[in-house]
Amino acid sequence: MLKPEIESALNDQFNMEQSASHGYLAMTAYLDARNPNGFAAFMRRQADEERVHALKIFDHISERGGTPKLMAIEAPEQDFDSVKAVFEAARDREGDNTRSIHALFKLARDHDDYPTQTMLQWFIEEQVEEEAWCDEAVDLLTMAGDSSSALLMLDQKYGGLATAPTDE
Ligand SMILES: [Fe+2]
Ligand SMILES: [Fe+2]
Repeated sequence: MLKPEIESALNDQFNMEQSASHGYLAMTAYLDARNPNGFAAFMRRQADEERVHALKIFDHISERGGTPKLMAIEAPEQDFDSVKAVFEAARDREGDNTRSIHALFKLARDHDDYPTQTMLQWFIEEQVEEEAWCDEAVDLLTMAGDSSSALLMLDQKYGGLATAPTDE
């Protein structure tokens, strides 16, 4: 049985993942409207993955006898200055999410909640990957600058990543 403090923190994390999915879909809309489809396809996949993350936590709360709680999701930013600004915003979001996952893990550890710690191990590893793709994208887009041929090449690269196999 989940302790109330853990259940509440898990529900906050569940909603943070839902909100990330919402945010990435808003970025998809921006990218779709302005570019060839590669970046947009990549970001849409991120939105799908965040939904899967949310459901992993939803299921954990349920399986442990708790009740997942759906909260209002704030309207995400949908206006950006550039593709690079989109990926910088993604990087900020993932940094916040990593801090939140780490705080949740610490709480589970302080309460001797072993199943929650085990479940969160996956998220800790996932956040390393999430931060890595954000950093790489921002670096590559910085190198590309205003060169339309470089941006087109990156769009193709990210479009290819959107269909690569994943572990969510
Ligand atoms: Fe996530
Ligand atoms: Fe993420």
